[in-house]
Amino acid sequence: MSDRFITDTLNQADTEFEVSLRPARFEDYIGQTKVKERLELFVEAAKGRRDVLDHVLLSGPPGLGKTTLAYILASAMGVNIKVTSGPVIDKPGDLAGLLTNMERGDILFIDEIHRMQRAVEEYLYSAMEDFVIDIMIDQGPNARSVRLNLEPFTLIGATTRSGLLTAPLRSRFGLTNRLDYYEAEDLQAIILRSARILNVDITEDGAREIGGRARGTPRIANSLLRWVRDYAQVKTGNRIDPEVADKALSMLDIDADGLDEMDKRMLLTMIEKFSGGPVGIGSLAVSVGEEAGTLEEVYEPYLIQEGYLKRTPQGRVVTERAYRKFGLRPGSEQRDLL
Ligand SMILES: Nc1ncnc2c1ncn2[C@@H]1O[C@H](COP(=O)(O)OP(=O)(O)OP(=O)(O)O)[C@@H](O)[C@H]1O
Ligand SMILES: [Mg+2]
Repeated sequence: MSDRFITDTLNQADTEFEVSLRPARFEDYIGQTKVKERLELFVEAAKGRRDVLDHVLLSGPPGLGKTTLAYILASAMGVNIKVTSGPVIDKPGDLAGLLTNMERGDILFIDEIHRMQRAVEEYLYSAMEDFVIDIMIDQGPNARSVRLNLEPFTLIGATTRSGLLTAPLRSRFGLTNRLDYYEAEDLQAIILRSARILNVDITEDGAREIGGRARGTPRIANSLLRWVRDYAQVKTGNRIDPEVADKALSMLDIDADGLDEMDKRMLLTMIEKFSGGPVGIGSLAVSVGEEAGTLEEVYEPYLIQEGYLKRTPQGRVVTERAYRKFGLRPGSEQRDLL
């Protein structure tokens, strides 16, 4: 267990623990109602026409259920799914290898699709649009291009940074869906479901307490549940109620609003060193000792959603809510003034 619980949890996708809790059908996928309804309709329509599902892009912060949805789509369509990720495909030949092995209707899931190399991405265009791929064989004077026909397939792309996707790639998806942070009740339901699967004794209120501190993210909710379960087993005789959950989560430095040390360090640094902002993400990253990318992908979106932080053209600024969180008023940066 490290002191960077949130970052570590979000970086460790697809562990065995996680896979065991992954819902396999739309019926078990909790929350994200709009996205779910759209995808279910999309599947029904394609199946009704005996057609191949059009390409789908899923975007949103880490741990919200993009990979889960890709697997659900494959099982709903009754097709095979192949899983890879943008940075792993390092040359066009790798992509050709994946695509030529697909059967009609199969799904290719590319995680972190925004991190795909440009040269590879360009091959994907014709594959997605016309189901052909032109590969170069030989080099120098003998170099020639060979056209390979592919079976019609479905590409599901997932990205935590849809803003980084190129326009030509984005335009080739038939359906784009953005996942948002989950409501507290949805997280409570996810925790109750996971607890059932893991055989954990938890009260409804206990699940609500954990859900409220899981920063809107199922992966974190499940991970917190596991921690609280361990705590309860050692300290309180297994049963998880709100009090047990609170004590266990306090040990991880996750506070009642669900913020962890890094969240608080970011906000306090902005208040104390930068007079509340505006501050650039690079300077902030150096000051708090974390990578700018992690701040942007993991921490900032939640702080913005919860109204602690705003993005302006000049940089990030903290809101009044952030000051209030630390018992401060805007303009009174020194904590010892209170
Ligand atoms: N709607 C949901 N209902 C129940 N459990 C969910 C739901 N969405 C996600 N989960 C749980 O959260 C875990 C993380 O989901 P998933 O791996 O799909 O996230 P992700 O969006 O692919 O994240 P990343 O961007 O980091 O790859 C899953 O193992 C699953 O147990
Ligand atoms: Mg994933």
